[in-house]
Amino acid sequence: MAARHLLPLALLCAAAKAAIWMPLPSYITPCSRNDPDVSGCALKSGRAAMKDFINGDRQYRIPSLNPLRIDKLAVDEGSGPLGLAFTANNGTVYGLADTSIDEVRIDLKNQHVEYDLTMPRLELLCIYNVSGKVLLLPIVGNGPGNITLIGVKIRYIYDFGFESRTRNGETKSFAIPKNSKLEYNVTRAYIHLDNLFNGDKLLGETTNRVLNENWQDLAKEVGPTIAEAIGEVMRQILQNIFDVVSYEDAFPDKV
Ligand SMILES: *[C@@H]1O[C@H](CO)[C@@H](O)[C@H](O)[C@H]1NC(C)=O
Ligand SMILES: *[C@@H]1O[C@H](CO)[C@@H](O)[C@H](O)[C@H]1NC(C)=O
Ligand SMILES: *[C@@H]1O[C@H](CO)[C@@H](O)[C@H](O)[C@H]1NC(C)=O
Ligand SMILES: *[C@@H]1O[C@H](CO)[C@@H](O)[C@H](O)[C@H]1NC(C)=O
Repeated sequence: MAARHLLPLALLCAAAKAAIWMPLPSYITPCSRNDPDVSGCALKSGRAAMKDFINGDRQYRIPSLNPLRIDKLAVDEGSGPLGLAFTANNGTVYGLADTSIDEVRIDLKNQHVEYDLTMPRLELLCIYNVSGKVLLLPIVGNGPGNITLIGVKIRYIYDFGFESRTRNGETKSFAIPKNSKLEYNVTRAYIHLDNLFNGDKLLGETTNRVLNENWQDLAKEVGPTIAEAIGEVMRQILQNIFDVVSYEDAFPDKV
């Protein structure tokens, strides 16, 4: 398969430069690194913090998820007649507010973390621009698009290393994620692209119908990029927090 390129989410990257360190946000309950069930503690703490995350937190560079704006999202599977170039501009994602954290597995000793998340329904509304081939069909057009994913399950896995920083003679360590991996499943996908083929109604309707009848193949082609973009948002949120909150403050010796 040709390479997929996911453009970074401009809104997250445009955020202000972080301070050298900050305390844990007040709505996150810290878990002791000595807690024999640190995963269970983190799950409880994460679930409780969810409603605060959803509205965003500028101080910690967390965008509002209710809804989430995505300036640009791109699937680029190579150019030419066999490739597919799909761009979603001015995107808005509805449904992230209903994200549930199913499980957290934290192994501090081996510096390994896994999160399981479920989003029951995600609706991406955007201005799309597509050209190339999808499911062997030639496709070209631009206009309003709606991609709706049902039952999105995301597993985000990473290891972390440490970096230390010193301020006024005090040194703290910061967890730096590495080897991150994202797995996802979708139970159903719907797509509607308005104004395909320059507004040719018959061709547009036929193409939309074929895309939806073959949603499983479509989800394999386009779904992962969207799930990946959502996963990327989650990853950025975690990273933005751990960028400025030290390991000592996130996982204190005692709580
Ligand atoms: C897309 O967003 C830009 C910047 O917010 C805005 O200027 C433009 O009018 C929008 N385009 C459409 C088609 O909504
Ligand atoms: C759509 O993409 C093509 C190829 O990348 C580009 O030439 C065209 O200007 C784009 N159209 C719009 C409306 O953005
Ligand atoms: C987007 O598509 C979904 C699934 O077909 C549909 O339920 C929803 O109403 C659509 N949203 C808009 C704004 O048309
Ligand atoms: C996706 O589905 C497969 C097969 O049912 C399962 O093994 C895997 O754990 C699932 N992944 C996620 C992230 O839910």
